[in-house]
Amino acid sequence: MRAIAIHRGESQPRLCEVPRPDPDTGAVLVRTLRVGIDGTDHEVLAGSHGGFPEDDSYQILGHEAIGVVADANGTELTEGQLVVPTVRRPPGAGSNEYFDRGEPDMAPAGEYVERGIAGAHGYMSEFFTSATEFLVPVSTAFAKTGFLIEPISNSEKALELAYTSRSSFEWSPETAFVLGNGPLGLLSLALVQQHEFERTYCLGRRSRPDPTIDIIERLGATYVDSRETPVSEVGAVHEQMDFVCEATGYARHAFETVDALAPGGVGVLLGIPSDWTFEVDGGQLHRALVLENKALLGSVNSHVPHFERARDTLADCPDWLTDAIITDVFDPTELDAAFETGPDRIKTVVEFGTR
Ligand SMILES: NC(=O)c1ccc[n+]([C@@H]2O[C@H](COP(=O)([O-])OP(=O)(O)OC[C@H]3O[C@@H](n4cnc5c(N)ncnc54)[C@H](OP(=O)(O)O)[C@@H]3O)[C@@H](O)[C@H]2O)c1
Repeated sequence: MRAIAIHRGESQPRLCEVPRPDPDTGAVLVRTLRVGIDGTDHEVLAGSHGGFPEDDSYQILGHEAIGVVADANGTELTEGQLVVPTVRRPPGAGSNEYFDRGEPDMAPAGEYVERGIAGAHGYMSEFFTSATEFLVPVSTAFAKTGFLIEPISNSEKALELAYTSRSSFEWSPETAFVLGNGPLGLLSLALVQQHEFERTYCLGRRSRPDPTIDIIERLGATYVDSRETPVSEVGAVHEQMDFVCEATGYARHAFETVDALAPGGVGVLLGIPSDWTFEVDGGQLHRALVLENKALLGSVNSHVPHFERARDTLADCPDWLTDAIITDVFDPTELDAAFETGPDRIKTVVEFGTR
């Protein structure tokens, strides 16, 4: 079967022929429909994130997928069912306490592999296999958009952690501020728009006309340009924020978030920055967190309950939004074009098949 993979010692993906996998007991064979590309895939290509499956000279890319069950293999799923796979799997043949508890997203390094990212083949191939416990069934309405459930699930977990961290007192958030206008930022904004926040804001560093600013404003949020209004000044220029969701990967934003938060507010960091040494006033930061009951959390990955919520969130997104976010759809043979980036691109997809 055809697969898009990165080979050891190379930094560009290749379309190659690999053996079609056979599902083990408890697993199904899935025919791939669409696979999204995100920043993590580019980091895998650059060799700055993830790693190859131990015994293979290549890694099949892709962790945002939608497919259709082609061989149910005696499981409870039926052929023709659309499914979205989660990302983490146990390392080796067995399981471990994190997977047994249904919390693989909370597992520390060494206790998981990630399909298409770290130590396991991904979904960018004509077929893939997966144990059914890691597949979220979705309706046929998601055939073209369902791969967005994976990134939205990361935002769902961020919001869940935010609410949980504020659950010991009366927290009635009115304002939300999403940092970043990449795919994760825009999908996080779409998520918070569906919650109780009365006023929402989204940060970028681009000038109009720009397709991401159009989306932000059409969603009803206020665009904040970090070149004019740094995150630390948003409280003075606009208002203090009850919830901040960081999706820029710009390390200063972790600390500036504390300034942007209202008393009792919570910031969740999703971005994954490279090393960067800079100065911060640690005393001021520490004091603000303590004296104003603020919280700052990190969050990575997600699991089945987050995927299920993301499925509902995506179902409630208007068609114009998914049409605007999915800017480019490529055939697997067009992989060079698929892995290009640019200001007019938001979410690029490789389409292996249609339903
Ligand atoms: N924690 C998790 O589970 C998880 C899951 C997926 C991704 N991530 C991470 O989350 C981050 C966002 O993901 P993504 O796919 O949306 O990445 P992305 O495409 O790189 O988007 C980041 C966005 O932030 C903007 N940005 C960066 N620095 C900025 C600044 N100083 N001021 C204003 N805007 C700024 C960028 O603007 P320009 O486009 O104009 O440069 C870009 O639009 C990445 O770090 C990614 O690795 C985390």
